[in-house]
Amino acid sequence: MGAKLIDGKELSARLRVEIAAGVAALATRPGLAVILVGDNPASVSYVTAKERACAEAGMYSREIRLPASATEAEVVAQVAALNRDDAIHGILVQLPLPRHIREQAVVAAIAPDKDVDGFTPVNAGKLMIGEECFLPCTPHGIVKLIEFAGMETQGKHAVVVGRSNIVGKPVAALLARKGADATVTLCHSATPDLARFTRAADIVVVATGRPNTLTGDMIKPGAVVIDVGVNRIPDPTRPKGFRLVGDVDFAGCAEVAGAITPVPGGVGPMTITMLLWNTLESARRHAAR
Ligand code: GUN
Repeated sequence: MGAKLIDGKELSARLRVEIAAGVAALATRPGLAVILVGDNPASVSYVTAKERACAEAGMYSREIRLPASATEAEVVAQVAALNRDDAIHGILVQLPLPRHIREQAVVAAIAPDKDVDGFTPVNAGKLMIGEECFLPCTPHGIVKLIEFAGMETQGKHAVVVGRSNIVGKPVAALLARKGADATVTLCHSATPDLARFTRAADIVVVATGRPNTLTGDMIKPGAVVIDVGVNRIPDPTRPKGFRLVGDVDFAGCAEVAGAITPVPGGVGPMTITMLLWNTLESARRHAAR
């Protein structure tokens, strides 16, 4: 392996020390509420990890579990109650939601000043027009990881693969905004000849939800590769019966890249860290009112 490993666990640990100190310095305890609808195993495992991280940072966390049969109105009612609850500074609705619930209707019900995911139309719009807002956690974590890898984004060509609202679109906006100053190409499932774009990139961010989207022959020597994927591959030799792989062929890309994030231990821990960061920031703002 030629590439340097970009260690999300290490950067997270450093940032979480700062966050815990920030929590300890506040008179009010920051509170995060997570709404989980149904029992999607990946979602359950994310939510469990978020709760553990809150406890370790000295934050209050509340989990609201609803059955997969819950109606949209029931989920919106839970969000509305949390909007009014002074112990809660951050509200997160774990996505995806069951198909009969409109995600945008639920997300739009979150008070923008408690939207620590940065998913509401207000915060997503502010990001687009360059106003201060809660930054979405995974894109924010990715920018921090690129900085941590010592990669200057100014003047660089970043290629983002995937156009989701959670990762692709916001990370493209963050890399292109003033201060980051990358030139950004946004590729997606309808892009013909993806390799033509990725081979031209100094930084490649892959968020497609599809293993092996990026292989070693698709990148330029020395490129920085950020793998956002978390895919469960059946593996009877593992205690849980599966292993996690990203969207990137790690072994192949690590031969060619200058630096690369592993899965697990790359982007994943940073998402939760930036969620804690936003929750602390929200509690600070509420305390200052
Ligand atoms: N599902 C996958 N990633 C995320 C995330 O960052 N936030 C929420 N709410 N749901 C997700």
